[in-house]
Amino acid sequence: PNVRDDKISEETKKLISSLPSHTDSQGQKLCKYQGCWYYYNTLQGVLNFQSGFQPQDTDIILASYPKSGTTWLKALTVALLGRSKNHSSSNDHPLLYDNPHGIVPFLEIDVYHESSSPNLDNFSATPRLFSTHMPLHAMQETLKQSPCKIVYVCRNLKDTLFSTWLFACAIFKIEPTRSILDSMFKSLCNGTIFYGPFWDHLLSYWRGSFKDPKHVLFMRYEEMKAEPHEQIKRHADFLGCPFTKQEEESGVVDKILDLCSLRNLSSLEVNKTGKVNNVDHKNFFRKGEVGDSKNYLTTEMENKIDMIIQEKLQSSGLNF
Ligand code: A3P
Repeated sequence: PNVRDDKISEETKKLISSLPSHTDSQGQKLCKYQGCWYYYNTLQGVLNFQSGFQPQDTDIILASYPKSGTTWLKALTVALLGRSKNHSSSNDHPLLYDNPHGIVPFLEIDVYHESSSPNLDNFSATPRLFSTHMPLHAMQETLKQSPCKIVYVCRNLKDTLFSTWLFACAIFKIEPTRSILDSMFKSLCNGTIFYGPFWDHLLSYWRGSFKDPKHVLFMRYEEMKAEPHEQIKRHADFLGCPFTKQEEESGVVDKILDLCSLRNLSSLEVNKTGKVNNVDHKNFFRKGEVGDSKNYLTTEMENKIDMIIQEKLQSSGLNF
């Protein structure tokens, strides 16, 4: 959360006083609005977005639950769309000079955090590219009738929890202790966590992708790691910019995957030294491995997460 509480309007304060609330282990207050838990300042951004965002038909929104592969999805989308500008191998590619979060800002955290009518001059290129951590249902009314496209990336809950723990400790510059992991685990399991409950978040997009497959694409971090070529082609097809045979033969797919690889992005000067919203760019890149949480979560934690996933996702056809 990067918005100061003094940006919260009187109207929002009134709304907050009528909502379920919760104080997390760091003493930060959350409230539950339309089924999702937000910090107060983020709620202001959500409300500003909901009242002020005017979708354009060609808009693309990249969505995720935090620590699920957002940075990678942003980089891949920028690279996919940028190939028409012949960027993918040249030295002037935007990804070489800015972090993916600088190129694709969050609607509720960056663009609409202060106002429902922000200056969108920086988004004059077509298509406009935005991102969000809001669940789909928080955007549905605002995007109603709009043919804009939404790409969601989801990641297994154990690695997401593990990644969140290390990320939060890194940005707050605190020791990643077991007790912090324990308290995050509890919040995750009972759903009272920033942008939680996790299961409602991913189910909103999962169901949305069935209901409206032309406009909502559901991607999985694990599949992107296991079969990057297939997944990036799915992604490109969905965005309406499929790879041509010639592109495939000339290695464009590999070039994009290489450009967006964790190894490459994390080695760029801009990602070693820069900052976005007071977060060092380097903190967005760690190991990016599937199953990395295995040696850190206790068996009890793993069992509880498996149980929750089983219970909450049972009837959805989505599994981990
Ligand atoms: P780990 O902490 O497991 O390493 P988000 O981008 O949503 O914040 O998610 C962060 C996770 O994505 C981190 O996982 C990070 O290392 C990984 N990640 C960042 N950039 C990536 C990339 N280009 N390719 C694959 N994974 C990446």
